[in-house]
Amino acid sequence: MYKIVNKKQLNPTVTMMDIYAPLVAQKALAGQFIILRVDEDGERIPLTVAGCDKQNGTVKIIFQIVGGTTIRLNAKEQGEYISDFVGPLGRPTKTDGIKKACIVGGGVGCAIALPVAARLKELGCEVHSIIGFRNKDLVILEEEFSACSDRLTIMTDDGSYGRQGVVTAPLKEAIESGENYDEVIAIGPLVMMKFVVATTKPYNVPTTVSMNPIMIDGTGMCGGCRLTVGGKMKFACVDGPDFDGFEVDFDEAMQRASMYADFERAEREASCNLFKKEAQ
Ligand SMILES: Cc1cc2nc3c(=O)[nH]c(=O)nc-3n(C[C@H](O)[C@H](O)[C@H](O)COP(=O)(O)OP(=O)(O)OC[C@H]3O[C@@H](n4cnc5c(N)ncnc54)[C@H](O)[C@@H]3O)c2cc1C
Ligand code: FES
Repeated sequence: MYKIVNKKQLNPTVTMMDIYAPLVAQKALAGQFIILRVDEDGERIPLTVAGCDKQNGTVKIIFQIVGGTTIRLNAKEQGEYISDFVGPLGRPTKTDGIKKACIVGGGVGCAIALPVAARLKELGCEVHSIIGFRNKDLVILEEEFSACSDRLTIMTDDGSYGRQGVVTAPLKEAIESGENYDEVIAIGPLVMMKFVVATTKPYNVPTTVSMNPIMIDGTGMCGGCRLTVGGKMKFACVDGPDFDGFEVDFDEAMQRASMYADFERAEREASCNLFKKEAQ
């Protein structure tokens, strides 16, 4: 069992937790993820390691409450336990040779992007971050990104905070104004990453994307997380989750991501009903 030593609501739909898992905390690097089960009969879900405190043995996770399992996880309080917490899994984000990077995060993808930005800063890299949200109420991790970015641009779809518009607008401006990024690293919804690649490709700016397909075992056994990258089949859990954005077949990934929509809707409704009944 793994203890929740800290819990904080970052916005109405995003929660941060520190989990006591000293073995994971010792080893995890930026870009890697864990798989957890809330209860013994629960489903396994992957979440990125958003930070580690090696001294206290804790691993930070930041998750959006989107369906059955994240509703159950969010119902746990500080001091309670979750059943399983396995990791670190996946390959760490490559940082070799990067001296100047632009990190592009969208929504809860910013939780995944933050440790990458922090690691690059720690290595002495110049870091420009562009983070985007639907509106002001959903903005998360501003202070944390400020601390590890030489330049931070916040975008909201409705202009209620930062600049109005999508993340690709300031990215294009920066590239056209002569910022020579060694790497653009984009983490967020599939459609956002697809458009980041459409922005960087004409200028041939190397672009890494972090893919998040359905994962089941997380160890390369089930094939659930397969993607087409450079015309070849790859497993996001063991070959990724980071890939060369120019090579990813985003249209196929988006089609696969919507395959279980009906099951997910039913499970989300069941979880909401369960908590409503318990509250009565
Ligand atoms: C490597 C990786 C890292 C991730 N890191 C984060 C993170 O740091 N924070 C965060 O909020 N989310 C992260 N996700 C997405 C997270 O796993 C899903 O939001 C979560 O599984 C939803 O489960 P649910 O039962 O609450 O929702 P459901 O209603 O079951 O699903 C909602 C959506 O979540 C995704 N999803 C569902 N089950 C899985 C699964 N087993 N594997 C992958 N995706 C799934 C699907 O896109 C689905 O449409 C990550 C996904 C991957 C693959
Ligand atoms: S999650 Fe099973 S092969 Fe990747």
